[in-house]
Amino acid sequence: MASARPWWKDAVVYQIYPASFKDSNGDGLGDIPGVLSKMDYLKGLGIDIIWISPMFESPQVDMGYDISNYEEVHAPYGTVKDMEDLIAACHSRGMRLILDLVINHTSDQHAWFQESKSSRDNPKRDWYIWKPPRYAEDGARLPPTNWRSYFSGGTWEYDEHTQEYYLHLFAKEQPDLNWENEETRKAIYDSAMRFWLDKGVDGFRVDCVNMYSKVVDFQDAPVVDKTFYEQPASEFYANGPRMHEFLREMNEQVLSRYDAVTVGELPHTPDPRKVLQYVGLGDRQLSMVFQFDIVAIGQNVAQKYNFEPWTLPVLKEIVAKWQQFIEGTDGWTTAFCENHDQGRSVSRYASDAPEHRVASAKMLAMMMCALTGTLFVFQGQEIGMINLPKSWPIDELKDIEALGYYKSMAAATNNDKETMATVMRNLQILGRDNARLPMQWDSTAHAGFTDSKDGPWMRVHDLYPDINVTKQLQDPGSTYSFWKAMIQLRKEHKDMLVFGAFEIFEPDGEKTFVFAKTHRNNKAVVALNFTSDDQRVTLPPFDGLALRVGTYPDAADVEKAAAPGNMRTLRPWEGRLYMA
Ligand code: GLC
Ligand code: CA
Repeated sequence: MASARPWWKDAVVYQIYPASFKDSNGDGLGDIPGVLSKMDYLKGLGIDIIWISPMFESPQVDMGYDISNYEEVHAPYGTVKDMEDLIAACHSRGMRLILDLVINHTSDQHAWFQESKSSRDNPKRDWYIWKPPRYAEDGARLPPTNWRSYFSGGTWEYDEHTQEYYLHLFAKEQPDLNWENEETRKAIYDSAMRFWLDKGVDGFRVDCVNMYSKVVDFQDAPVVDKTFYEQPASEFYANGPRMHEFLREMNEQVLSRYDAVTVGELPHTPDPRKVLQYVGLGDRQLSMVFQFDIVAIGQNVAQKYNFEPWTLPVLKEIVAKWQQFIEGTDGWTTAFCENHDQGRSVSRYASDAPEHRVASAKMLAMMMCALTGTLFVFQGQEIGMINLPKSWPIDELKDIEALGYYKSMAAATNNDKETMATVMRNLQILGRDNARLPMQWDSTAHAGFTDSKDGPWMRVHDLYPDINVTKQLQDPGSTYSFWKAMIQLRKEHKDMLVFGAFEIFEPDGEKTFVFAKTHRNNKAVVALNFTSDDQRVTLPPFDGLALRVGTYPDAADVEKAAAPGNMRTLRPWEGRLYMA
């Protein structure tokens, strides 16, 4: 089992955020025909699977993660026919397509919820999670629990008409489905899954995959953040008692019948044994998951966006942990450090200063392409896109989560100037908007993303004349060219780079990251400098190590001139990959 190699393990997946990828019709919003126009670009990069974030019918309270009809496409993005064309365009190029499966909740505009809220005895009442109010001693109405929602405020919304609260872990427009109800599960499988699998999609990225089974008794969460009534409560709704049963059922009744791949979004799960319970091949639940440690670096436990500085050993330990946890098991892992919910990796983990950002992007590309697991690239990562400019005011931000955090902090501190300046800085590092700026295609107006006279739905990064696809395609020394070469190298040496055993050296070192990947007698050694200064590193004493790739153009010459022995000097944010 451990050595089983289904088709998706050595694939490179590219995530498309449809609103921001490419606008084909001049309305300022990306769309499916826009994606279709870039298929050869993606094939050229070496992509095997496209994952497209939600393109379903939606009021767009949370950028499409609030779905009002699983079987329709959001009209500004295109039609079901456009999606059929996209499936065909992928398959004709030997690529696959996976969709986002958002089934912890629907939009409040979904017909199911409209029925559910219409009366207490509606047949779909139990499809969502309804509870009566509590009352304080003074008679004040209270929500059933004090749980905090992801987008600030509580997880319960009162419905005047039927005088009960419904649960929403995210926005109040995203009511949670009741997975305890079998009829609901069957409807989800039909509408959200079979409808698209029958059209030929190859699998799903599964949103909030561990939140469907809630604890049975709804209790208050302990108070850890005294600033607010609502408290973090993931222990009450993540990894609940029936989670694995639900996933096995979904696999047995749907996924396995189509050989569909799944990658589950798995927050709140630091324990490797718990993660393994989701990804064992033999257990038939999920193919793999996104464990959250790597993207939670710098986030505060009680208040996610309150940024906390971190050191390199933390990152190294996380990478090592989630590389090694599958060893000797039939589980599988993922290599990713960006998505639509995170700041850009160059800005978060390296340096986006003008003199360092290209080196940083290549160094991170080298790291990612050498890691075991299925590799995920987020749109724009391949050209080294960076976080939004620090000069942008709050009005440029669009994300419901960022704005919820901003407003709740303003309210809690009476708009304290210093706090609010920190809040802005936090969002500039960690905010989801950073990933959602339009893709930078060229140096024409609006980065070639749209030709709308009114501009794009979200402002284009000020630096697009410098950081864009067209410029980088022509330049063999660009970040794009480096990614392309690294993806190719990863495929040529997949035994080591995709499937190999991971070993870390000097885990406590604060400046450099050195690791090895081994398959039988073959070794790859990766040495990375995570600072803006020259650093000395010691390569592990493996016989016959020879430089294979460097992120600096003159790496081969510098290597030849190096003194004999295992010591090397890495320049700022430099990476080198050796093989033996
Ligand atoms: C996931 C998505 C995120 C969304 C949330 C609610 O975390 O990645 O973008 O807001 O689920 O569906
Ligand atoms: Ca459009």
